[in-house]
Parts: sequence; C-alpha cells; structure tokens
Amino acid sequence: MQTKVLIPDAGAYQLASDLLNRGELVAFPTETVYGLGANALNREAVLSIFSAKGRPADNPLIVHIHDRSQLDDLCTVPPLAGRLMDAFWPGPLTMLFVRKPAVPLEVTAGLPTVAIRMPSHPVAAAMLKACSLPVAAPSANSSGRPSPTTAAHVLEDMNGKIPLILDGGECDVGLESTVLDLCHDQPTILRPGGVTKEMLEAVLGQKVLLAGSILRPLGENEVALSPGMRYRHYAPKGSVILVEGPEERTVPLLRKLCLEQRQAGKKTCVLCFTEHVGALTDCDPHDIGSISSPCEIAHRLFQTLRLLDEEGMEAVFSEVVPPEGMGLAVMNRLGRAAAFRTIRA
Ligand code: TXA
Ligand code: MG
Repeated sequence: MQTKVLIPDAGAYQLASDLLNRGELVAFPTETVYGLGANALNREAVLSIFSAKGRPADNPLIVHIHDRSQLDDLCTVPPLAGRLMDAFWPGPLTMLFVRKPAVPLEVTAGLPTVAIRMPSHPVAAAMLKACSLPVAAPSANSSGRPSPTTAAHVLEDMNGKIPLILDGGECDVGLESTVLDLCHDQPTILRPGGVTKEMLEAVLGQKVLLAGSILRPLGENEVALSPGMRYRHYAPKGSVILVEGPEERTVPLLRKLCLEQRQAGKKTCVLCFTEHVGALTDCDPHDIGSISSPCEIAHRLFQTLRLLDEEGMEAVFSEVVPPEGMGLAVMNRLGRAAAFRTIRA
C-alpha cells in the first residue's frame, strides 16, 4: 500500500473522511501527538489499528470526538465531568466514562469504561467534523516506540501500512493527553499529560489522586489501572539511566558516567538542560530544553528519544526534572524510557 502524506486542504479532508467511513486508517495530528484513527464504531476498522501498530489487544483505545452531542451514544457521563469539559475541552484531557453498547469491546479491550477526548488541534477537529464519526485513535507509532510528534515520525513507523497521513506540522504539547478516571470514588490520573494534576484540582476543588505506577515500575502482581502502563514504552534501543540530585553534583557525575562508558567502547551521550550544555561539551550533550521550562522539555522529549535510535546510542545518561506540573508527565515518560533506573548524585 502506498502511504500518502498530505498537507490538509478541502480535498485531503474529503479523502480522510471517505477512508474513515470505508473502515480504513488515517493518521492525523493532535495538539499532543499524532493519532492513528479508525471509525470507533466499526469492529474490523478498530482491529486493523492493532495490527498496523503491533499493539497488544488488551490495551484499550481513546475515542476522539469534536462535539459533546456525540457522547450520548457512546457513554454515561458522571456529573463531575461537565466542569472539566468546560475547562479543558477541546484539549489534552482524556476522561474514562461508563461505556454504552454501541462502542465495540475491541475499543475498550473488554473494559466497562471508554476513554474519550476532544482534541483542540484544528486539523483533528476539522477531520472529525468532516467524517462525522467518533474516531478511535492510539498514538500513531509502532507499539513500543516513542509517540510521533511529526508526520515524518508517523511515516517512519507506518509507511506502507496505512493509506493517508495528514501533515499538520509539529505537535504543540509533544506528550500524550492526561488520562483521568472518573468512574471510581475519587478522580485518579492514570497517565499524566498536558492538563496537570494542579489544573484539575483547581477546577474540581478537590484532591486528584495519582495511579501508583506513574513514577515507578508496576509491581509483579499489581493490576494496571490503565493497561498501557504495563508495557515497555517510549524506550530507545540503548540503555537510559537517570541521574538525580543537586546540580553541582549531577553535572560532574553525568560527565564521569559518560566518559567511563565511552572508554568501555559504547556509543554514549547525555541528555541535559540547555543551561548545562556548556559544561558537558565533551559528552555529546543533547539539549532537552531549559531547566525552567518543563513544557519545552515535554515538547522535545519524544523527538530526542527517536534521535537516540537513529544515532545508534548504546548508553544514555539523563538529567531529571521535579515531578510537578508538566514535570510529572515528563518524568513518567522519561522514567519509563529508563525503566526507572536512577543513580543519585
Ligand atoms: O494524546 C493522546 O491521548 C493520544 C492522541 C492521539 O489522542 N493518544 C494516545 O493513545 O496516547 P494511546 O492508545 O497511545 O494511549 C491510550 C492510553 C493507554 O495507556 C490506555 O491503556 C489508556 O489510555 N486507556 C484507554 N482506555 C482505557 C480504559 N477504558 N481504562 C483505562 N485506561 C484506558
Ligand atoms: Mg501510545
């Protein structure tokens, strides 16, 4: 199959709509990462997402909508959700609602809940409107690779497997949406993202919990609240190790670790803040963004992780950010890329 990459115009939206209505796959930009979309109400179409990605069938998908009226057929919405929709939709917030029978169990991996979000990216919104369908879409990467934040990343993973990629440029947030469970006693973040815990608490006026496995590996007998948390994810091919501690100690330690690995013959680099690039020039520093801007770090993270593979890095040492605000989402992804291996400086 030939994969077309189109800059969205009226013709491209028409083609995307025709393909989706015929049960085929279309990759499209959102404000978080690129999604790999199919008609959420068509079982076969949904199954073809899993085969294109090589995704385990027990990892459920997010359904994307452009208008709240679409919710009626899909799910039952708890009262708390209205305030969050007013505040954060369209935007990078996914909420879990109780599924209605119209949603195939293939979408929810058999779970009683369905994850729904309304993306704010104009191309996503226009495509969803053009096709008049709820669109199930995971991130448009091959399973296990970092999520794509450009059309070129999608093409790397999906070339020949899907008919169309809508090219909307670089994604703004760069990390996937916040996944919030509203179906249990207390609102719980299953995956941190662009809408932070602090932002949710400010609107709800109550405490929001964090799923246990956000900043550590899942225990052997622990049930994943969000099945996606079980899988090795965002992981470059080389080994990644996090280095934490006060900056007067982390920078020299990063340098020492890097040079040791290099002497051992490994292709090695460091991921460091813009402010530390100058002190690490002999360590092939990869600038992850300013120490004072977790949003900038989020925006660049996945493209940096992809670059490590292209460069054939075998050992990578990375600085860490405080796990607050957007920093929590950054540390969830970076932590998992490192399998949470950490050295204290
Ligand atoms: O920003 C995003 O959310 C992107 C764009 C394309 O919208 N999508 C995305 O989808 O990241 P995906 O499939 O890569 O991640 C969906 C996450 C997974 O961790 C999955 O386990 C979780 O949401 N999820 C989906 N439905 C769920 C459910 N019913 N219960 C618990 N977790 C669920
Ligand atoms: Mg994904």
